[in-house]
Amino acid sequence: MNESVLTGQEKLIFKLRELFSSAGYKRFRLSKFEDYDLYSGFKDFLVSEDIISFTDIGGSLKALKPDVTLSIVRSAKPVPGKAEKLFYDETIYRPSDGSFKEMMQCGLECIGDIDQSCVLEVLKLAAASLAEVSPDYVLSISQPDIITDAIRGLDLIPEKETELLRLIEQKNISGLKAFSDKLAEEGKDLGTIADLAFLCGDPEDVLGAVKAIGFWNEKTEQLKGLCEGMKDSGLTKGLRIDLSAGCTTKYYSGIVFKGYVSGVPKEVLSGGRYDALAARMGKNCGAIGFAVYLDALERAVDAADEAPEAGADAKMLRIALPKGRLGEKVYKMMAAAGYECPDAVSENRKLIFVNEEKGVSYFWVKPSDVAVYVERGAADLGVCGKDIIMEHSPAVYELLDLKTGICRMAVAAKADFADDSGRPLTVATKFENIAAKYYASLGRDIDIIRLNGSIELAPLLGLSDVIVDIVETGTTLRENGLKEREKIADISARLIANKASYEFKGEAVAELTEALGKQV
Ligand code: PRP
Repeated sequence: MNESVLTGQEKLIFKLRELFSSAGYKRFRLSKFEDYDLYSGFKDFLVSEDIISFTDIGGSLKALKPDVTLSIVRSAKPVPGKAEKLFYDETIYRPSDGSFKEMMQCGLECIGDIDQSCVLEVLKLAAASLAEVSPDYVLSISQPDIITDAIRGLDLIPEKETELLRLIEQKNISGLKAFSDKLAEEGKDLGTIADLAFLCGDPEDVLGAVKAIGFWNEKTEQLKGLCEGMKDSGLTKGLRIDLSAGCTTKYYSGIVFKGYVSGVPKEVLSGGRYDALAARMGKNCGAIGFAVYLDALERAVDAADEAPEAGADAKMLRIALPKGRLGEKVYKMMAAAGYECPDAVSENRKLIFVNEEKGVSYFWVKPSDVAVYVERGAADLGVCGKDIIMEHSPAVYELLDLKTGICRMAVAAKADFADDSGRPLTVATKFENIAAKYYASLGRDIDIIRLNGSIELAPLLGLSDVIVDIVETGTTLRENGLKEREKIADISARLIANKASYEFKGEAVAELTEALGKQV
């Protein structure tokens, strides 16, 4: 066959099929449709609860598959002493950016008696899959039980435990410090857990550090065994350990791993052990697998023949700063931390500024757009308000609280307003998600009126009962005869990082974070 008729994605699918079948995995074909019931009982395992459903000719409720693993596990017939090895390439349907998208996944599942050699084989195949795309890849493995077991010892209430796990997964240094301080007031010590959360990088370094802080058990031993086992495959170049990864996952139980390739701003492979999911489906066996996200890779594989990114550029930190007073303040902190770029604050209309010697480039963007640039990988790092993070939940790491741009998210109303619980409260705001979540937590029914600015006008003109908005000095409220009623959250500027940049430029990101942290 003339290969030029194939797209990069199609070529990759063939390569992965070859890779998986040569390792003894059998192709598993699925229908595009699945019984809706399969998902209704397992929504907590799905990326999203939104599923495209329809009624079949016979009247039964069907769904367009949002996931492949559940279907494969359901049909698996594990035999004691054996592992069923299957691979697939299938289309799935999931919501993304506000609408349903058709996505292509290629992956494998190993179900049955899973021993360490099965796990190792799957890890090697994951690394080999990434290597098919680019020699510049990262396979980041984790064993979340290491941290969750340690946290259990703190005896926290479930909400606090979830909050702590989220902070760990976000690599939120300031948040963890604040959490630790609060815990200390209760006479509890976060101690080693905070240290474990930031152990990320070369396996030998990470495991050495785990040992040095005296945290060694059979789970860390297992990770060590896996990393050593990878050595004979020649696939260790991109291998990393990230102990904070996967702490909040419901899908996996046990080892988890994620894959990244250079030039793609998000994970392109995700996998792990999911014995608990198999057990919920009535299969008394072990299970492990991974999926390669072919759509995320589409551009990378199509551009595979093009010239690679220049070496210097590949290591340069691209930083998105919010235009305006806050951005200028943050730039000064960056400069004091040793990342100056004098042109960046010059009086001209240029938007991108580079200091090659310091290995940084800055660009000024609209404050509310910073998180978009970082999430999508156009910037490695950025600075944005906690309000934007709370409102849009971008998939980024929140590294530092810069303790500047301090204000609060609050509810305000006319001074004489009295809430009538007999009808829904009308709330005018730019921050629909924050308002919805806040009132849901109070069990109060609301009608949201989305506005873009001058929110304070809404109650004055009878458009809404209350507003949910940023309050800094309180002047705007005062001058308009409004009164702050409740504080929803403290807001300040945060340093955020793209997740793939954290893998490929980890050292540079950590150095900048540490230096900037000293300026806070
Ligand atoms: C923000 C916010 C308030 C004001 C609060 O508006 O929406 O209106 O600042 O600050 P204060 O408590 O110090 O008076 P911004 O200036 O960002 O403009 P906006 O109305 O377009 O949101």
